[in-house]
Amino acid sequence: MTVCEAPGKVYLFGEHAVVYGEPAVPAAIERRATVSVEPRDDDHVRVEAEDLSLDGFTVEYSGGTGDRPDVDVPTPLVEAAMGYVDAAVEQARDAADAPDAGFDIAVESDIPLGAGLGSSAAVVVAGIDAATRALGEPLDRRELAERAYRAEYEVQDGQASRADTFCSATGGAVRVEGDDCEPIEAPNLPLVVGFDGGAGDTGELVAGVGALREEYGFAADAVESIGDLVRTGEALLADAAPGEEPPAALLAELGELMDFNHGLLSALGVSARSLDAMVWAARDAGAHGAKLTGAGGGGCIVALDASDATETALSFTQGCEEAFRAELATEGVRVVE
Ligand code: PMV
Repeated sequence: MTVCEAPGKVYLFGEHAVVYGEPAVPAAIERRATVSVEPRDDDHVRVEAEDLSLDGFTVEYSGGTGDRPDVDVPTPLVEAAMGYVDAAVEQARDAADAPDAGFDIAVESDIPLGAGLGSSAAVVVAGIDAATRALGEPLDRRELAERAYRAEYEVQDGQASRADTFCSATGGAVRVEGDDCEPIEAPNLPLVVGFDGGAGDTGELVAGVGALREEYGFAADAVESIGDLVRTGEALLADAAPGEEPPAALLAELGELMDFNHGLLSALGVSARSLDAMVWAARDAGAHGAKLTGAGGGGCIVALDASDATETALSFTQGCEEAFRAELATEGVRVVE
């Protein structure tokens, strides 16, 4: 049995604008998806996804992507997760030149699904890593990230950025611009995540920003302004001591940029009442700054914490289903056993 686990991520800055060629800075967090893979003697794939829903389910099928039978899965999000496992199997078979390889696969995840934390990327990265290792053909991190990106691209009909999969493969903070992804140094940021229990429709939200940008010059300016603030944020991160607790002045500046970033995303129509409520609860509790993370519309916010008060305040905020501290994950995907 080969078991790999890969982290989710938050966007410190830059989602949506990254679609238009501006830079963005996602950072991996210590919430992981774990995929266990055991090769089989036949070409069947059996997937167990216990922790992706309250009930869990198991499905077994033969063949590759697209051959999965119609099964009753508990929720549309779990159905989507199955698509990612499928695509990961296909990439692993291709990478190992083993088109008929069969696997018993178990997926567990403590990353909220579809909520801007890169849950699907973590499943795909851990899945491809575990399956290729199980076949004796481990991939280096760049190839793993590239194949995981292709898997997401396929499942999401061409609407995928490289950010989530790269970040999940390498860990740490990453600078993304166009197709370029590079790890960057970052201090040990005290992050808290608030989750409203929901998820936004990434395709619709991206299309909405696109329409505003076409219609209004000032919306295009807002996208460019996000790019400017990302460059400012990056410079601040680069000046800080890597892995160390950042000084208060730096936290204050980064927090201000996060607030600014949330305001611009909100102006571009991708926030939601629940996300705004959590952002304000975090600020009221003394956080240095807070913003939505990912596509928006629902899902998660990330706050730069100043004390334990943020997590508690969020957990009492109407519309917040879960609040948790999110350590930066300096290590990307890793083998567990
Ligand atoms: O919600 P997530 O984590 O998949 O992030 C979406 C980020 C966008 O910039 C809105 C879209 C993209 O593909 O970059």
